[in-house]
Amino acid sequence: MRKVLVIGASGLLGQYLLKAGRDLELDMVGTYNETVPTDINGMLRMDITNPDSVSRSLDQICPDLVVLSSAMTNVDQCEREPGKAYAVNMEGAFNVASRCKDHGAKLVYISTDYVFNGLKGSRYHEFEGPDPLSIYGRSKLEGENVTMDADKKNMVCRVSVVYGWNRIGKKSNFLTWIIESLKKGQAIRLYNDQWVSPTYAPSAAKDILELACKDVRGIVHTCGPDCLNRYEMGVMLAEVFGFDKGLISSIETKDMPMLAVRPRASCLAVDIAESELGRSMVGLRQGLDEMKKEER
Ligand SMILES: NC(=O)c1ccc[n+]([C@@H]2O[C@H](COP(=O)([O-])OP(=O)(O)OC[C@H]3O[C@@H](n4cnc5c(N)ncnc54)[C@H](OP(=O)(O)O)[C@@H]3O)[C@@H](O)[C@H]2O)c1
Repeated sequence: MRKVLVIGASGLLGQYLLKAGRDLELDMVGTYNETVPTDINGMLRMDITNPDSVSRSLDQICPDLVVLSSAMTNVDQCEREPGKAYAVNMEGAFNVASRCKDHGAKLVYISTDYVFNGLKGSRYHEFEGPDPLSIYGRSKLEGENVTMDADKKNMVCRVSVVYGWNRIGKKSNFLTWIIESLKKGQAIRLYNDQWVSPTYAPSAAKDILELACKDVRGIVHTCGPDCLNRYEMGVMLAEVFGFDKGLISSIETKDMPMLAVRPRASCLAVDIAESELGRSMVGLRQGLDEMKKEER
């Protein structure tokens, strides 16, 4: 049985990586840092910015495969605290990649569509040159680079606007924030000029592990197949959950600028993942239908 270590299993995607691996009957161990899960069975504490902490866990677990889902994911916070962003997203990746190399373990680094500038006007393929606009995007690109420089058998999986129910921490994601707001009858404003490929955490987790188990190497886009703007996402969510669409208004980025510059259209092509997996990626409508079914 393959032994798999999921670093950042207290996060949204990480918790589903742990679950997907157990469903695939892999021998799974997860890590958390500050969010202590209620059930710490099969979980270790690890701070990826501390090389000793990384070494201790890898020496203890001796995994065949490591999935690094940890990151500083708040894009505006990365802009405010660039030192911390690079420490987690780049140096953390370096610490993990070096120890994986020593152990002969394959590393999968979870990355982002924000490595692109979003100006192309159509979907980005894996072979296209990145040009990040923000500290978050730049620090994640550096994380990709250290991962692939460490060992050519490693893999980088890019995702985009990850959504799903968070069963471990209290942190919301873009879609659960919309659900909470509309449920309370609060009006919200969503950008109509930022296009992304929304990624359903449970299905992406399964896809990523299956690709890793097939020993796929290099960069692979493992997001959903859609290219939607944030307003369209909100309207689709309101339809699926039966909320009042009138509470959602559409705005442009210039009407409510954010600290970090976001790409205009960072949708990703998923042909490689679909062909390797022999199935279609899960689109937003299907992901929302599943979330609705699993609402508690
Ligand atoms: N969320 C998105 O929309 C999105 C979009 C594109 C790409 N991504 C990428 O997808 C991956 C997963 O994102 P997510 O939304 O699931 O993240 P998330 O929910 O924000 O979770 C982040 C994880 O990183 C861990 N972490 C943070 N600092 C750490 C440190 N110093 N050492 C060890 N672990 C640390 C956190 O642990 P604690 O909470 O226990 O501290 C948590 O488990 C990330 O690599 C992110 O860059 C996300």
